[in-house]
Amino acid sequence: MFEQEIEKRKTFAVIAHPDAGKTTLTEKLLLFGGAIQTAGAVKSNKIKKSTTSDFMEIEKQRGISVATSVMTFEYKNLLINILDTPGHKDFAEDTYRTLTAVDSVILVVDCVKGVEEQTEKLMEVCRMRDTPVIVFVNKMDRDGKDPFDLLDELEKKLNINVQPLSWPIGKGTFFKGVYNIPEKKISLFSPSQQKVTDDYISIQDISSDELDKHVGAMEANQLREDLELINGVYPDLDRNAYLHGQIAPVYFGSAVNNFGVQELLDTFVQLAPNPRPRLTSEREVAPTESKFSGFIFKIHANLDPKHRDRIAFMRVCSGEFKRNKFYYHVRQNKELRFNNPTTFMASQKSIIEDAYPGDVVGLYDSGNFKIGDTMTEGEKFYFKGIPNFSPEIFKEIINLDPMKTKQLQKGLEQLTDEGVAQLFRSYHGSRQIVGTVGELQFEVIQYRLEHEYGAKCRMAPVNYFKACWMTGDEKKIEEFIKYKSNNVFYDKDENKVFMAESNWLLDVAIKDYPDITFHTTSEFKL
Ligand code: G4P
Repeated sequence: MFEQEIEKRKTFAVIAHPDAGKTTLTEKLLLFGGAIQTAGAVKSNKIKKSTTSDFMEIEKQRGISVATSVMTFEYKNLLINILDTPGHKDFAEDTYRTLTAVDSVILVVDCVKGVEEQTEKLMEVCRMRDTPVIVFVNKMDRDGKDPFDLLDELEKKLNINVQPLSWPIGKGTFFKGVYNIPEKKISLFSPSQQKVTDDYISIQDISSDELDKHVGAMEANQLREDLELINGVYPDLDRNAYLHGQIAPVYFGSAVNNFGVQELLDTFVQLAPNPRPRLTSEREVAPTESKFSGFIFKIHANLDPKHRDRIAFMRVCSGEFKRNKFYYHVRQNKELRFNNPTTFMASQKSIIEDAYPGDVVGLYDSGNFKIGDTMTEGEKFYFKGIPNFSPEIFKEIINLDPMKTKQLQKGLEQLTDEGVAQLFRSYHGSRQIVGTVGELQFEVIQYRLEHEYGAKCRMAPVNYFKACWMTGDEKKIEEFIKYKSNNVFYDKDENKVFMAESNWLLDVAIKDYPDITFHTTSEFKL
């Protein structure tokens, strides 16, 4: 029974560079999966571009998006959990963290723009854990890049082998549909936001006239040529290679037109992995183990100062999680229990009695958790693979009210526990640097410090380019610190970090200190 629950579950995220169609595709997957009846339910949670300067609005929308943090639906006797990721690039770190909690991803690429900056970054994170990836090339109704060029670009820029499982017939205004390669059938394109099935026509022999009848002679010939090339290059899909993150199947479609979504969903449920074993500081933990374990990958604060509680999102990794049962918080070495663990779907919140590996549970938290915390039934270990990534923008905190030093410190500690930003303390002295991936975060922090903690501060720009965690020969590290003490900081876990002012200076350090390794994530041995 318990094992059946695990086999039923598939937990994944849809990721994309902003505007490629992540929100649209997520919504359409829910629509095809029967979880929602009308389009628009997810869209309203999207952080709109026009509000980039209005962080309160964004925070509000982020608050709403708690509701869609996890979208669960049943499809073909499976239980699908889609973990939502924020589209706004200033919250990219939230997305990276969410990726630690999924077992696979669907990557959306805009056929006009190809692989964009954020696509590359997200893939890098996926590659750290060999997360299986399915690529959905979206917006085929637009005149995009040549599909072969796109495949080439995907392989080169994302550093992964790709294999098309569907192939477009024409593109842009002449987009006729797609040919499903393994199943030898075509699906004809008709722009529609209503229909929730794809209509297939089986074409067992692509040399037959049947194909010409449906798509026109020119397109049919082009497809034959393309397929000849494809069949020469790609053997049948090796599912094992997909499961190990070595090969990414590619589909073509148009999310806004409900086209190719059914095909994607059906392949996803066949190919995508069930909850996978996870590495901890001590050993690998299999989902089938009877004892419960899980970790916190996201913390969402309540912006309303009257309700200071936060919601910590926990991914269940093994065993069965039960409401009101005491569990062991490893870092704090204490037992905690939860009266109202919650699941989220659209605007509905509901209290759950139990949860299984692959599930995500929302836990009301008054400050016990920080990102990466492990909960178990008593065993001491930490889940690995939930690193901090080097921030991209750094600012120094200047306290503006010495009477409120304690409040400022508490606020900084708690806000950085939520993963809003990272805090670094200078090796010598008491300088504090906050690092984030977006400007917006600084506004959020400053606002929250003032309104929630009554502390006022100024954020002074500092000229750092990257935070690099250092490992290697201790003596050499000491020597390096002597020489570069102004650039050495501690992170919150007392790890030593080199703040490099430029790529060039980082390269110099790497060359001059070959016995030290400089890492751009806080966790090095995944
Ligand atoms: P994101 O979450 O990745 O940021 O992207 P989102 O789904 O919001 O899509 C970005 C824009 O691309 C939206 O247009 C959306 O309608 C459009 N889009 C999504 N899929 C397709 C597709 O298959 N073909 C075409 N042509 N467009 C597509 P928008 O104008 O920004 O928003 P809206 O006014 O349409 O809501």
